[in-house]
Amino acid sequence: MGNIKFGVLLFLSACSFINAETFTFPNSFIFGAATASYQIEGAWNVDGKLPSIWDTATHRQPSNDVFDGLTGDEAALSYYYWQKDIEALKNANLTMYRFSIAWTRVLTKNQQVNQKGIDYYNTLINDLIAEGITPMVTLYHWDLPQYLQDIGGWMNSEIVKYYEVYADLVFKSFGDRVKIFITFNEPSVFCDHGHNYAEHAPHIWTYDSVGGILCSHHVLLSHARAYRLYQEKYLAAQNGKVGICLNTGFSYRGNGSVPQDTVERAIQFYFGRYTNPIFSETGDYPQVMRDAIDQKSKQQGRSFSRLPTFTAEEVQMLKGSADFLALNYYSSGMVYPISFDPTIDPVHHDSEVAGFSDPDWKVARSSWLYQVPQGLYDLLNWIRTKYNNPDVYISENGWSDAPLTIEDHDRIEYMRLHLAAISKAITDGCNVLGITVWSLVDNFEWMRGYDERFGIYAIDLNDPDRNRTPKKSVSYLRNVTNSRTVEA
Ligand code: NOJ
Repeated sequence: MGNIKFGVLLFLSACSFINAETFTFPNSFIFGAATASYQIEGAWNVDGKLPSIWDTATHRQPSNDVFDGLTGDEAALSYYYWQKDIEALKNANLTMYRFSIAWTRVLTKNQQVNQKGIDYYNTLINDLIAEGITPMVTLYHWDLPQYLQDIGGWMNSEIVKYYEVYADLVFKSFGDRVKIFITFNEPSVFCDHGHNYAEHAPHIWTYDSVGGILCSHHVLLSHARAYRLYQEKYLAAQNGKVGICLNTGFSYRGNGSVPQDTVERAIQFYFGRYTNPIFSETGDYPQVMRDAIDQKSKQQGRSFSRLPTFTAEEVQMLKGSADFLALNYYSSGMVYPISFDPTIDPVHHDSEVAGFSDPDWKVARSSWLYQVPQGLYDLLNWIRTKYNNPDVYISENGWSDAPLTIEDHDRIEYMRLHLAAISKAITDGCNVLGITVWSLVDNFEWMRGYDERFGIYAIDLNDPDRNRTPKKSVSYLRNVTNSRTVEA
């Protein structure tokens, strides 16, 4: 019986091999990996580093906010073991490293430079460059200084000035060597989950999405100010690029009775609220979003809209304020109008759209992560046609599994299918310049603690040396980067 099963398996895998198509990547396409400061660095209170909102959240007792009450106090200890990260990149044959700067390491409360923080990133950047690895630097990956949260954080318009001071310092300190800057990582996640639903730091819950809306508005203005600052003060001498990292899935119609425009509404409210002001000609939120929120605000009895307006000057500042789009893609969804389901509370659904997943989709350790490579292909083409084919980096894409899963076949399959989708989109004409997979090493997965592992290198939290153990996907990636092809 076992032999028959084995025979069938062999036959099936031979068939899939025979049917496999070869997808190629242009020589200019860059393969890399990504991380973020709070998720890997540890050393949370060392060398003058101030507490961030994630330090506050994870140290709050009793901590129900994070799975198992864990923290990023140590994580992968990259503050001490950055050389192990560089070795890991080299070993996987990766030539780009996306990491983020901790705002709390480089500036004091009085907005003075904390030199020790600058020194750490200088060493990391210099060592990467010495190994032929291009640094891609994210300025904000969710770890806001707590002292700024204390004055309202992203919901206070004053934050724009503070962010500009921080961006200026980053450009001035590192821009002679760093040529790719990302102002923000996934604002839709930290704005909505942090300021509407109290799931992420700073764990604020607001009625009818006001917190998330204000956060997004100030993030957009901060981004545009930083972009203009770079253009005016640094571009001539440094000649780098500045973009923003946005995430979305693609949406599909839940069933035949779902109106066609539901898909468009879903993506416009989630993704378009950032891409429209920056990448479209209008320099403003999508019209469908403005109309819906204005109207709903009125129905709710307000004399003004919950969605703030941009001044004419702000519109000019926003329009075209990115040299590239950094796109984080993980998964996709099915959508339907909330009017189809009377049990849904419309308060947090300005889009009037709700989502679910296809039961046939394969799911990762993270309950939200379904394997839908077609979504990446469709999304890239949607972006190409909607925004005049901008330069795109896939700045995150990855799969989670259980701790210490070294034989990570599911991750390999996920990578293979998504790389094939990217190659196909490039053939269609999409300007995809490279990918930095999430993640280089296992790390602190926000409110899921260390229960969901995204690394291509495993970290054993009981190992004080935090050795980076290559998972099987490392040799897979090495083959891909050597051959510049995938079979799918
Ligand atoms: C996107 C976030 O940028 C990253 O911090 C997170 O770990 C991954 N998604 C996986 O959830």
